[in-house]
Amino acid sequence: MTRRAAITGFPVAHSRSPLIHGYWLKHHGIDGTYDRVAVEPATAETFYRAFAKSGLVGCNVTVPHKEVAAACCDELDDAARAMGAANTLWLDDSGRLMGANTDGLGFLGNLDQQAPGWDARTKSALVLGAGGAARAIVWALASRGVEKVLIANRTLSKAQDLADRFAPVAKAVSWDYLADILGRTDLLVNTTSLGMEGQPPLDLDLSPLPVEALVTDIVYAPLVTPLLQAARDRGHPIVDGLGMLLHQAVPGFERWFGVRPEVDDALRRLVLADLGVSP
Ligand code: ATR
Repeated sequence: MTRRAAITGFPVAHSRSPLIHGYWLKHHGIDGTYDRVAVEPATAETFYRAFAKSGLVGCNVTVPHKEVAAACCDELDDAARAMGAANTLWLDDSGRLMGANTDGLGFLGNLDQQAPGWDARTKSALVLGAGGAARAIVWALASRGVEKVLIANRTLSKAQDLADRFAPVAKAVSWDYLADILGRTDLLVNTTSLGMEGQPPLDLDLSPLPVEALVTDIVYAPLVTPLLQAARDRGHPIVDGLGMLLHQAVPGFERWFGVRPEVDDALRRLVLADLGVSP
């Protein structure tokens, strides 16, 4: 029987997940589908609570439903529990709804692929931003054993809330002290929307940052953000954000369709072309 999965959220029209999973379904010749299912906020709780009746074997969850989806699951993995948010759901053999959060794994998978050995070189990380993506990345860094994760955000109170969730590894810092902190940073991560097409660039003087420090951005349009370009010009290793989007999709596909897919160059090119972003 055809196995059906989908991206659920509101809106879902912009999601690249159908393209990614569609590529893997075709590549592996699997009898499966991956569609878009728009779930209006007012009906979200009913939808996830009655997921077994949806006809889907599982789904991805995007904004604004990651928290409500987690609350509707019968069981969560460590990441989803720590974040209070799920982006990947599936039904187990007895029909129980299981939830995982793979955003952090996507972040780790991207760095592991593009900058192997980065974790052995990272004692102290600086995360800019304190939204949903930052939450996943702070979890990821802590789970990989990074000793210190500092969080700076325009709204300091949000950085503090996030740091509290992952204390004592995580700590909020004021944006005003970044020059000092950069001098002791091994990994710099931008999770804000600054640098995205149509947004102002992130205005940060990188000169205090040690030249071997790795710089990465979750923004992938443009692929090389002004931050990444400035870092590259100063000789830092850089990793773009596209791989996080691609790698977060891997565990869901494996759950629903039984094959662990690869993030390869052809997939990167396909998604970049669809985004209209030059490689
Ligand atoms: P995501 O799920 O992608 O993390 P989000 O939850 O909306 O998205 O978070 C966006 C992040 O970008 C936040 O940290 C936000 O800062 P605030 O918490 O102060 O809103 C940050 N951000 C967005 N626009 C910004 C700007 N113009 N200057 C600085 N930070 C900005």
